Amino acid sequence: MATLPTRIRIMVATIAVLVLATVVIPAIPAGAQQPVNPTASAVNEERLLQQLQRVEGRGTLPDAKSNIIEQPAGRDWRQFHQVTLKWIGAIAILGILALLVLFYLIRGMVRIEAGRSGRTLVRFNAFERFVHWMTAVCFVVLALSGLNITFGKDLLLPWLGPEAFTAWSQWAKYAHNYLSFPFTLGVVLVFLMWVAWNFPSKADVEWIKQGGGMVGHGHPPAKRFNAGQKMIYWIVVLGGGAVAVTGYLLMFPFYGTDIAGMQLAQVIHAVVGVLFVAAMLGHIYIGTIGMEGAFEAMWDGTVDVNWAKEHHSLWAEKEIAEGHVSAPPSEGRMQAAE
Ligand code: HEM
Repeated sequence: MATLPTRIRIMVATIAVLVLATVVIPAIPAGAQQPVNPTASAVNEERLLQQLQRVEGRGTLPDAKSNIIEQPAGRDWRQFHQVTLKWIGAIAILGILALLVLFYLIRGMVRIEAGRSGRTLVRFNAFERFVHWMTAVCFVVLALSGLNITFGKDLLLPWLGPEAFTAWSQWAKYAHNYLSFPFTLGVVLVFLMWVAWNFPSKADVEWIKQGGGMVGHGHPPAKRFNAGQKMIYWIVVLGGGAVAVTGYLLMFPFYGTDIAGMQLAQVIHAVVGVLFVAAMLGHIYIGTIGMEGAFEAMWDGTVDVNWAKEHHSLWAEKEIAEGHVSAPPSEGRMQAAE
Protein backbone atom coordinates (compact mmCIF):
# COMPACT_ATOMS: atom_id res chain seq x y z
CA MET A 1 0.00 0.00 0.00
CA ALA A 2 1.29 3.45 -0.90
CA THR A 3 1.71 5.89 1.91
CA LEU A 4 -0.26 9.16 1.95
CA PRO A 5 2.57 11.41 0.70
CA THR A 6 3.19 8.95 -2.13
CA ARG A 7 -0.50 8.99 -3.10
CA ILE A 8 -0.48 12.80 -3.07
CA ARG A 9 2.61 12.80 -5.32
CA ILE A 10 0.90 10.42 -7.80
CA MET A 11 -2.24 12.59 -7.87
CA VAL A 12 -0.25 15.78 -8.46
CA ALA A 13 1.72 14.09 -11.25
CA THR A 14 -1.48 12.83 -12.91
CA ILE A 15 -3.08 16.26 -12.78
CA ALA A 16 0.11 17.79 -14.18
CA VAL A 17 0.10 15.33 -17.13
CA LEU A 18 -3.58 16.04 -17.83
CA VAL A 19 -3.07 19.82 -17.74
CA LEU A 20 -0.05 19.48 -20.00
CA ALA A 21 -1.95 17.32 -22.47
CA THR A 22 -5.17 19.31 -22.57
CA VAL A 23 -4.06 22.92 -22.09
CA VAL A 24 -0.34 23.55 -22.55
CA ILE A 25 0.56 21.45 -25.64
CA PRO A 26 -2.32 22.67 -27.84
CA ALA A 27 -1.39 26.25 -26.92
CA ILE A 28 2.19 25.93 -28.19
CA PRO A 29 2.53 27.63 -31.65
CA ALA A 30 2.81 25.10 -34.45
CA GLY A 31 6.33 26.16 -35.49
CA ALA A 32 7.67 25.53 -32.01
CA GLN A 33 6.59 21.89 -32.06
CA GLN A 34 8.71 19.05 -33.41
CA PRO A 35 9.33 20.37 -37.00
CA VAL A 36 7.52 18.71 -39.85
CA ASN A 37 8.46 21.40 -42.37
CA PRO A 38 7.72 20.42 -45.93
CA THR A 39 10.13 22.94 -47.43
CA ALA A 40 13.03 22.23 -45.10
CA SER A 41 14.81 19.91 -47.51
CA ALA A 42 14.49 22.46 -50.32
CA VAL A 43 15.93 25.14 -48.07
CA ASN A 44 18.89 22.93 -47.27
CA GLU A 45 19.30 22.11 -50.94
CA GLU A 46 19.30 25.79 -51.85
CA ARG A 47 21.89 26.47 -49.11
CA LEU A 48 24.02 23.56 -50.27
CA LEU A 49 23.84 24.79 -53.84
CA GLN A 50 24.92 28.27 -52.81
CA GLN A 51 27.78 27.07 -50.66
CA LEU A 52 29.10 24.19 -52.73
CA GLN A 53 27.94 25.32 -56.17
CA ARG A 54 26.50 21.85 -56.72
CA VAL A 55 24.43 19.10 -55.15
CA GLU A 56 26.17 15.82 -55.57
CA GLY A 57 25.07 12.29 -54.71
CA ARG A 58 26.69 8.91 -54.76
CA GLY A 59 26.31 6.66 -57.78
CA THR A 60 27.47 3.39 -59.23
CA LEU A 61 28.18 4.61 -62.77
CA PRO A 62 31.88 4.80 -63.59
CA ASP A 63 31.45 8.37 -64.85
CA ALA A 64 31.64 10.52 -61.69
CA LYS A 65 29.97 13.43 -63.53
CA SER A 66 26.71 11.50 -63.39
CA ASN A 67 26.69 11.96 -59.58
CA ILE A 68 26.13 15.71 -59.92
CA ILE A 69 22.44 16.23 -59.36
CA GLU A 70 22.24 20.00 -59.48
CA GLN A 71 24.53 22.90 -60.25
CA PRO A 72 23.58 26.57 -60.68
CA ALA A 73 24.84 26.77 -64.28
CA GLY A 74 22.47 23.93 -65.11
CA ARG A 75 19.53 26.06 -64.06
CA ASP A 76 20.73 28.98 -66.20
CA TRP A 77 21.18 26.62 -69.11
CA ARG A 78 17.73 25.13 -68.63
CA GLN A 79 16.24 28.63 -68.62
CA PHE A 80 18.11 29.35 -71.86
CA HIS A 81 16.95 26.13 -73.49
CA GLN A 82 13.34 26.22 -72.35
CA VAL A 83 12.69 29.94 -72.74
CA THR A 84 15.35 32.23 -74.26
CA LEU A 85 16.24 29.99 -77.21
CA LYS A 86 12.61 29.59 -78.16
CA TRP A 87 12.15 33.35 -78.24
CA ILE A 88 15.31 33.89 -80.31
CA GLY A 89 14.28 31.15 -82.75
CA ALA A 90 10.65 32.23 -83.07
CA ILE A 91 11.49 35.92 -83.54
CA ALA A 92 14.27 35.22 -86.08
CA ILE A 93 12.36 32.68 -88.18
CA LEU A 94 8.86 34.14 -88.04
CA GLY A 95 10.33 37.66 -88.34
CA ILE A 96 12.20 36.86 -91.56
CA LEU A 97 9.17 35.02 -92.98
CA ALA A 98 6.97 38.05 -92.28
CA LEU A 99 9.52 40.39 -93.91
CA LEU A 100 9.78 38.17 -96.99
CA VAL A 101 6.00 38.00 -97.41
CA LEU A 102 5.80 41.78 -97.02
CA PHE A 103 8.65 42.31 -99.47
CA TYR A 104 7.03 39.99 -102.01
CA LEU A 105 3.69 41.77 -101.69
CA ILE A 106 5.31 45.20 -102.19
CA ARG A 107 8.06 44.45 -104.72
CA GLY A 108 6.92 41.20 -106.29
CA MET A 109 9.33 39.07 -108.32
CA VAL A 110 12.36 40.97 -109.62
CA ARG A 111 11.93 40.51 -113.38
CA ILE A 112 14.50 40.38 -116.17
CA GLU A 113 13.68 43.90 -117.31
CA ALA A 114 15.02 43.50 -120.84
CA GLY A 115 13.19 40.18 -121.18
CA ARG A 116 14.94 36.93 -122.02
CA SER A 117 17.48 37.01 -124.82
CA GLY A 118 17.30 33.27 -125.34
CA ARG A 119 21.11 33.10 -125.18
CA THR A 120 22.84 31.77 -122.11
CA LEU A 121 26.04 31.82 -120.10
CA VAL A 122 27.31 28.93 -117.99
CA ARG A 123 27.24 30.02 -114.34
CA PHE A 124 27.88 26.84 -112.36
CA ASN A 125 29.43 23.60 -113.56
CA ALA A 126 28.10 20.15 -112.60
CA PHE A 127 30.48 19.76 -109.64
CA GLU A 128 29.51 23.14 -108.18
CA ARG A 129 25.82 22.28 -108.49
CA PHE A 130 26.33 18.86 -106.93
CA VAL A 131 28.13 20.38 -103.93
CA HIS A 132 25.45 23.08 -103.60
CA TRP A 133 22.53 20.61 -103.59
CA MET A 134 24.26 18.09 -101.35
CA THR A 135 24.91 20.82 -98.78
CA ALA A 136 21.43 22.31 -99.22
CA VAL A 137 19.56 19.00 -98.80
CA CYS A 138 21.63 18.15 -95.71
CA PHE A 139 21.00 21.65 -94.37
CA VAL A 140 17.22 21.36 -94.73
CA VAL A 141 17.17 18.00 -92.92
CA LEU A 142 19.55 19.27 -90.22
CA ALA A 143 17.43 22.39 -89.78
CA LEU A 144 14.13 20.49 -89.47
CA SER A 145 15.55 17.83 -87.18
CA GLY A 146 17.34 20.46 -85.06
CA LEU A 147 14.24 22.63 -84.78
CA ASN A 148 12.38 19.51 -83.68
CA ILE A 149 14.64 19.36 -80.62
CA THR A 150 13.88 23.00 -79.82
CA PHE A 151 10.19 23.27 -80.74
CA GLY A 152 8.95 19.72 -81.40
CA LYS A 153 7.56 19.08 -77.95
CA ASP A 154 5.48 22.26 -78.06
CA LEU A 155 4.42 22.18 -81.71
CA LEU A 156 4.32 18.54 -82.82
CA LEU A 157 3.73 16.40 -79.74
CA PRO A 158 0.15 17.64 -79.23
CA TRP A 159 -0.60 16.86 -82.91
CA LEU A 160 1.20 13.57 -83.35
CA GLY A 161 0.71 12.04 -79.92
CA PRO A 162 3.52 10.48 -77.88
CA GLU A 163 4.19 7.37 -79.99
CA ALA A 164 4.42 8.98 -83.40
CA PHE A 165 6.36 11.92 -81.96
CA THR A 166 8.85 9.56 -80.33
CA ALA A 167 9.37 7.59 -83.55
CA TRP A 168 9.77 10.76 -85.64
CA SER A 169 12.15 12.32 -83.10
CA GLN A 170 14.30 9.22 -83.02
CA TRP A 171 14.67 9.19 -86.81
CA ALA A 172 15.19 12.93 -86.85
CA LYS A 173 18.00 12.55 -84.35
CA TYR A 174 19.68 9.82 -86.45
CA ALA A 175 19.36 12.06 -89.50
CA HIS A 176 20.81 15.02 -87.56
CA ASN A 177 23.81 12.97 -86.50
CA TYR A 178 24.59 11.21 -89.77
CA LEU A 179 23.87 14.01 -92.26
CA SER A 180 26.25 16.23 -90.32
CA PHE A 181 29.12 14.50 -92.14
CA PRO A 182 28.13 15.26 -95.78
CA PHE A 183 27.03 18.72 -94.60
CA THR A 184 30.47 19.44 -93.14
CA LEU A 185 32.13 18.15 -96.31
CA GLY A 186 29.81 20.43 -98.31
CA VAL A 187 30.74 23.48 -96.24
CA VAL A 188 34.47 22.76 -96.71
CA LEU A 189 33.99 22.32 -100.48
CA VAL A 190 31.85 25.48 -100.74
CA PHE A 191 34.64 27.36 -98.99
CA LEU A 192 37.38 26.06 -101.29
CA MET A 193 35.38 26.20 -104.52
CA TRP A 194 34.16 29.84 -104.32
CA VAL A 195 36.52 31.64 -101.93
CA ALA A 196 38.39 33.34 -104.81
CA TRP A 197 35.23 35.29 -105.82
CA ASN A 198 34.06 36.20 -102.34
CA PHE A 199 36.54 38.72 -101.03
CA PRO A 200 35.01 42.20 -100.58
CA SER A 201 35.66 44.63 -103.46
CA LYS A 202 34.93 48.29 -104.32
CA ALA A 203 31.92 47.26 -106.40
CA ASP A 204 30.33 45.83 -103.25
CA VAL A 205 30.20 49.26 -101.58
CA GLU A 206 28.23 50.71 -104.49
CA TRP A 207 26.03 47.61 -104.64
CA ILE A 208 25.14 47.99 -100.96
CA LYS A 209 24.53 51.76 -101.34
CA GLN A 210 22.00 51.01 -104.05
CA GLY A 211 20.35 48.24 -102.01
CA GLY A 212 21.41 45.73 -104.63
CA GLY A 213 18.78 47.10 -107.01
CA MET A 214 16.15 45.24 -105.02
CA VAL A 215 14.40 48.45 -104.13
CA GLY A 216 13.67 50.50 -107.26
CA HIS A 217 14.92 49.40 -110.66
CA GLY A 218 18.64 50.21 -110.62
CA HIS A 219 21.21 47.56 -111.50
CA PRO A 220 24.43 48.19 -109.59
CA PRO A 221 27.42 46.55 -111.32
CA ALA A 222 28.70 43.31 -109.83
CA LYS A 223 31.27 40.67 -110.65
CA ARG A 224 30.50 36.93 -110.47
CA PHE A 225 29.06 37.33 -106.96
CA ASN A 226 27.47 40.53 -105.66
CA ALA A 227 27.72 41.80 -102.05
CA GLY A 228 24.50 40.04 -101.03
CA GLN A 229 25.74 36.71 -102.33
CA LYS A 230 29.10 37.26 -100.64
CA MET A 231 27.27 37.75 -97.34
CA ILE A 232 25.39 34.49 -97.85
CA TYR A 233 28.66 32.77 -98.74
CA TRP A 234 30.35 33.89 -95.50
CA ILE A 235 27.26 33.06 -93.45
CA VAL A 236 27.42 29.52 -94.85
CA VAL A 237 31.18 29.16 -94.34
CA LEU A 238 31.37 30.73 -90.86
CA GLY A 239 27.92 29.65 -89.65
CA GLY A 240 28.43 26.16 -91.08
CA GLY A 241 31.87 26.00 -89.47
CA ALA A 242 30.44 27.11 -86.11
CA VAL A 243 27.57 24.60 -86.10
CA ALA A 244 29.93 21.84 -87.22
CA VAL A 245 32.53 22.45 -84.48
CA THR A 246 29.95 22.89 -81.71
CA GLY A 247 27.81 20.06 -83.10
CA TYR A 248 30.68 17.57 -82.92
CA LEU A 249 31.45 18.73 -79.37
CA LEU A 250 27.82 17.88 -78.52
CA MET A 251 27.93 14.60 -80.41
CA PHE A 252 31.07 13.44 -78.62
CA PRO A 253 30.44 14.79 -75.12
CA PHE A 254 33.24 15.63 -72.70
CA TYR A 255 36.09 15.06 -75.15
CA GLY A 256 38.07 18.12 -74.15
CA THR A 257 35.03 19.86 -72.64
CA ASP A 258 33.64 20.02 -69.11
CA ILE A 259 30.00 20.74 -68.26
CA ALA A 260 30.46 24.49 -68.78
CA GLY A 261 32.09 23.80 -72.16
CA MET A 262 29.21 21.52 -73.19
CA GLN A 263 26.69 24.17 -72.21
CA LEU A 264 28.55 26.85 -74.15
CA ALA A 265 28.76 24.57 -77.20
CA GLN A 266 25.02 23.92 -77.01
CA VAL A 267 24.16 27.61 -76.67
CA ILE A 268 26.35 28.58 -79.66
CA HIS A 269 25.08 25.65 -81.73
CA ALA A 270 21.44 26.40 -81.09
CA VAL A 271 21.63 30.19 -81.55
CA VAL A 272 23.77 29.99 -84.71
CA GLY A 273 21.48 27.18 -85.93
CA VAL A 274 18.25 29.16 -85.69
CA LEU A 275 19.84 32.35 -87.13
CA PHE A 276 21.29 30.22 -89.93
CA VAL A 277 17.79 28.96 -90.76
CA ALA A 278 16.50 32.55 -90.89
CA ALA A 279 19.36 33.61 -93.21
CA MET A 280 18.80 30.64 -95.52
CA LEU A 281 15.10 31.45 -95.82
CA GLY A 282 16.19 34.78 -97.33
CA HIS A 283 18.56 32.95 -99.68
CA ILE A 284 15.87 30.46 -100.75
CA TYR A 285 13.42 33.31 -101.39
CA ILE A 286 15.73 35.22 -103.70
CA GLY A 287 16.76 32.04 -105.50
CA THR A 288 13.15 31.04 -106.26
CA ILE A 289 10.10 33.33 -106.25
CA GLY A 290 12.10 36.49 -105.48
CA MET A 291 13.99 36.77 -108.77
CA GLU A 292 13.20 35.65 -112.28
CA GLY A 293 15.97 33.64 -113.91
CA ALA A 294 17.98 32.90 -110.74
CA PHE A 295 16.91 29.31 -110.01
CA GLU A 296 18.08 27.90 -113.34
CA ALA A 297 21.64 29.00 -112.49
CA MET A 298 21.77 26.25 -109.89
CA TRP A 299 19.42 23.88 -111.74
CA ASP A 300 20.82 23.41 -115.25
CA GLY A 301 23.81 25.64 -114.55
CA THR A 302 23.01 28.41 -117.04
CA VAL A 303 21.58 31.92 -116.91
CA ASP A 304 20.09 34.12 -119.56
CA VAL A 305 22.53 36.70 -120.94
CA ASN A 306 20.12 39.55 -120.12
CA TRP A 307 19.80 38.30 -116.52
CA ALA A 308 23.59 38.26 -116.28
CA LYS A 309 23.86 41.78 -117.74
CA GLU A 310 21.34 43.12 -115.22
CA HIS A 311 22.59 41.41 -112.08
CA HIS A 312 26.27 40.70 -112.72
CA SER A 313 27.24 43.17 -115.42
CA LEU A 314 31.02 43.03 -114.83
CA TRP A 315 31.01 39.23 -114.92
CA ALA A 316 28.72 39.16 -117.98
CA GLU A 317 30.95 41.58 -119.94
CA LYS A 318 33.97 39.40 -119.29
CA GLU A 319 32.16 36.16 -120.20
CA ILE A 320 30.75 37.65 -123.41
CA ALA A 321 34.15 39.08 -124.37
CA GLU A 322 35.67 35.64 -123.89
CA GLY A 323 33.05 34.16 -126.21
CA HIS A 324 31.24 31.99 -123.64
CA VAL A 325 27.71 32.81 -124.84
CA SER A 326 25.66 29.77 -125.89
CA ALA A 327 23.03 29.50 -128.57
CA PRO A 328 19.28 29.20 -127.72
CA PRO A 329 18.02 25.71 -126.70
CA SER A 330 16.69 25.00 -130.21
CA GLU A 331 20.26 25.31 -131.43
CA GLY A 332 21.60 22.97 -128.80
CA ARG A 333 21.75 25.20 -125.72
CA MET A 334 21.96 22.36 -123.22
CA GLN A 335 24.96 20.74 -124.88
CA ALA A 336 26.74 24.06 -125.06
CA ALA A 337 25.91 24.82 -121.42
CA GLU A 338 27.20 21.53 -120.19
C1 HEM B 1 28.08 19.37 -88.77
C2 HEM B 1 26.87 19.73 -88.57
C3 HEM B 1 26.07 19.50 -87.31
C4 HEM B 1 26.29 18.68 -86.23
C5 HEM B 1 27.47 17.76 -85.99
C6 HEM B 1 25.20 18.86 -85.32
C7 HEM B 1 25.02 18.20 -84.11
C8 HEM B 1 24.03 18.45 -83.20
C9 HEM B 1 23.85 17.77 -81.93
C10 HEM B 1 24.75 16.64 -81.41
C11 HEM B 1 22.78 18.31 -81.32
C12 HEM B 1 22.23 17.95 -79.95
C13 HEM B 1 21.14 16.99 -80.16
C14 HEM B 1 20.55 16.51 -78.88
O1 HEM B 1 20.41 17.31 -77.94
O2 HEM B 1 20.21 15.34 -78.85
C15 HEM B 1 22.25 19.33 -82.18
C16 HEM B 1 21.13 20.11 -81.91
C17 HEM B 1 20.64 21.09 -82.75
N1 HEM B 1 21.12 21.44 -84.00
FE1 HEM B 1 22.71 20.60 -84.89
N2 HEM B 1 24.33 19.78 -85.84
C18 HEM B 1 24.84 20.20 -87.07
C19 HEM B 1 24.28 21.10 -87.95
C20 HEM B 1 23.16 21.85 -87.70
C21 HEM B 1 22.57 22.81 -88.62
C22 HEM B 1 23.08 23.10 -90.01
C23 HEM B 1 21.50 23.36 -87.98
C24 HEM B 1 20.53 24.39 -88.45
C25 HEM B 1 20.39 24.75 -89.65
C26 HEM B 1 21.42 22.76 -86.66
C27 HEM B 1 20.48 23.08 -85.73
C28 HEM B 1 20.36 22.48 -84.50
C29 HEM B 1 19.37 22.84 -83.54
C30 HEM B 1 18.30 23.95 -83.69
C31 HEM B 1 19.54 21.99 -82.44
C32 HEM B 1 18.69 21.92 -81.18
C33 HEM B 1 19.17 22.89 -80.16
C34 HEM B 1 18.38 22.67 -78.89
O3 HEM B 1 17.20 23.01 -78.86
O4 HEM B 1 18.98 22.15 -77.96
N3 HEM B 1 22.43 21.84 -86.52
N4 HEM B 1 23.01 19.39 -83.32
